[in-house]
Amino acid sequence: MLSCQRSAFMLPDGVHYLNCAYMAPLAAAVRAAGIRGIDRRMAPHLIRPEDFFDESDHLRCLFSRVVNAPDPNRVAIVPSVSYGLAAVARNVPASRGDNVVVLEEQFPSNVYVWRRLCAERGLELRTVEAPPPDARGRGLEWNIRLLSSIDRRTALVSVPHVHWADGTLFDLERVGERARDCDALLAVDGTQSVGAMPFDVQRVRPDALVCAGYKWLLGPYSTGLAYYGPAFDQGTPIEENWITRRGSEAFAGLVRYRDEYQPAALRYDVGERSNFVLLPMLVAALELVLEWTVPAIEAYCRALTGPLARTLRERGHRVEEPRWRGGHLFGVRVRESVDRARLTERLQERQVAVSFRGDAIRVAPHLYNDADDTAALLDAVQ
Ligand SMILES: Cc1ncc(COP(=O)(O)O)c(C=O)c1O
Repeated sequence: MLSCQRSAFMLPDGVHYLNCAYMAPLAAAVRAAGIRGIDRRMAPHLIRPEDFFDESDHLRCLFSRVVNAPDPNRVAIVPSVSYGLAAVARNVPASRGDNVVVLEEQFPSNVYVWRRLCAERGLELRTVEAPPPDARGRGLEWNIRLLSSIDRRTALVSVPHVHWADGTLFDLERVGERARDCDALLAVDGTQSVGAMPFDVQRVRPDALVCAGYKWLLGPYSTGLAYYGPAFDQGTPIEENWITRRGSEAFAGLVRYRDEYQPAALRYDVGERSNFVLLPMLVAALELVLEWTVPAIEAYCRALTGPLARTLRERGHRVEEPRWRGGHLFGVRVRESVDRARLTERLQERQVAVSFRGDAIRVAPHLYNDADDTAALLDAVQ
């Protein structure tokens, strides 16, 4: 079991930051990488053409290790989830009357894109409703509803691994199987799970997996990583930039324009992907995740949230059972009798940082948290 890693971060004393689902605090190593990146731009004559490629490729390798993807060239560097999913939308084979399956109250970047696609192509946007919050076996039932909403007319299933607002867990291996049985594509928004929960590309076999970098991957804002499977190998990217074309390594020959792209998913890289400040930061962040290891991060978070959730349930608040929620992210639906405004004040007084999402308080610890933080939360929630 890992010990608390608060010293690797620079959180102010007294702050109980239980909100990695909002934004990870920068680890000292990530901040240092960013500062080195800024300083490097003072001497651009030392930045070599290879540097536009090597760091990006290193980042792809690191992310491939995090998600057990065999080929790093299947990883594209994107600025956001909405960008990564726009590439999916652009290349989904679908015809009038087909459907796209999403979950109720999914994160907007994984909804608006499908609303537009459905409107433009005459598709049905099929939203799988959540069972009521107080339903017994709610998580299991929601999973069953998801599986049974995928049918032969499903062109795409686009879901997260855990729900961003309350941490409900979805069995993506089953979802992947069902999607394949129906010839549907599967896109996963891994933003709220990859880095904190094992995700295995070779087991889930998604066609796309898109993750923002600034939460559980511990990286800076405006970075993200996306895996694209063979279904997208011949796709059209969102934009046509010079570096994604074959032979772009030879700077002197860039105007010998080429029709072919770099291999596999590299065509989906965002323009100016070789960001000399942000990429080294994301590299440093993924190195930390890999050093700590995802299973150990998950086990640490689960050891913190298990007793916390039990106590909250004993006090009459609603929390999903462990089998159907993330160990690192869960929602607390507080008792009716709790005065919301007073609760917000108490959280502020105790310097407990959590988020209110939908009708739940979202609790999302990481390795910098310990029992002191969960005690402060319990003290505030009562
Ligand atoms: C599940 C999920 N997906 C995506 C995002 C971010 O989306 P984008 O990168 O498009 O801003 C968030 C941010 O909270 C999120 O919770």
